[in-house]
Amino acid sequence: MLIEAENICRSYRNGGSRIEAVKDCSFSVREGEFLAITGPSGSGKSTLMSILGLLERQTSGKFRIGGQDTGHMSADIRAGLRNQILGFVFQSYNLLPRLTAQENIELPMTYAGVRAATRRTRAVELLRKVGLEERQAHFPNQLSGGEQQRIAIARALANSPQLILADEPTGALDSEKGAQILDLFQEINKAGRTIVVITHDEDVACRADRILRMKDGCIIEDELVLTPHYQADTAKAASFVRHPELRGTGLQPRRPE
Ligand SMILES: Nc1ncnc2c1ncn2[C@@H]1O[C@H](COP(=O)(O)OP(=O)(O)O)[C@@H](O)[C@H]1O
Ligand SMILES: [Mg+2]
Repeated sequence: MLIEAENICRSYRNGGSRIEAVKDCSFSVREGEFLAITGPSGSGKSTLMSILGLLERQTSGKFRIGGQDTGHMSADIRAGLRNQILGFVFQSYNLLPRLTAQENIELPMTYAGVRAATRRTRAVELLRKVGLEERQAHFPNQLSGGEQQRIAIARALANSPQLILADEPTGALDSEKGAQILDLFQEINKAGRTIVVITHDEDVACRADRILRMKDGCIIEDELVLTPHYQADTAKAASFVRHPELRGTGLQPRRPE
């Protein structure tokens, strides 16, 4: 298992009161899975993702990544894992405005101590992958929203992370641009990367293999989706259907309408 969350809770103190943003959430994510977390605004999706992304700690419960308990990890180890095995994509792109598209993509590799020549080659390769080779020297404010999001995805892929976490990656885009981003996620997933995408958009969620639905901090449903893309990938579909975790859970593979 790539991710195992056991009875995770996260509460915030707000003046005198306590907000329980995430309540008793348990689930796991296997290598190669494309998981969507959905639910209304305020249901705890971003808080849960901050925990998965080692940006925040749960108040209680266990969180393991690659079989390792993260509870006792030092801040340095957590930062190292974030840089090496996680890639983040945010709704608002979070590109650095004074760096070019290529320099933004190179940044995680700089942090990881990759040599300049290697960084450059890899950044150009990633620019090609997201279809923005000719935008390499552009600054973020010279790019459209869809282009900035594609640069942000290229940046998230820079260190070849095992797990990509995306929080509302298509939230700021029109449906056509959003669909392009989702095509890209599906392609990345087919190439073997695990993806967790947060969305409140059903159309986005239906691109995933599996949907976790949240409400008031709780996971209220854990549903398998057999997308056409996924049905075509029979080996992957079979591994899901055969997976012992599914037995006895009442989870039914659902065919698309
Ligand atoms: N840093 C924080 N301090 C206090 N309350 C927070 C904080 N982050 C989130 N919350 C609260 O936790 C709940 C869940 O928020 P969030 O995880 O952002 O939900 P979602 O991403 O589903 O919209 C909300 O009620 C929100 O106001
Ligand atoms: Mg959110």
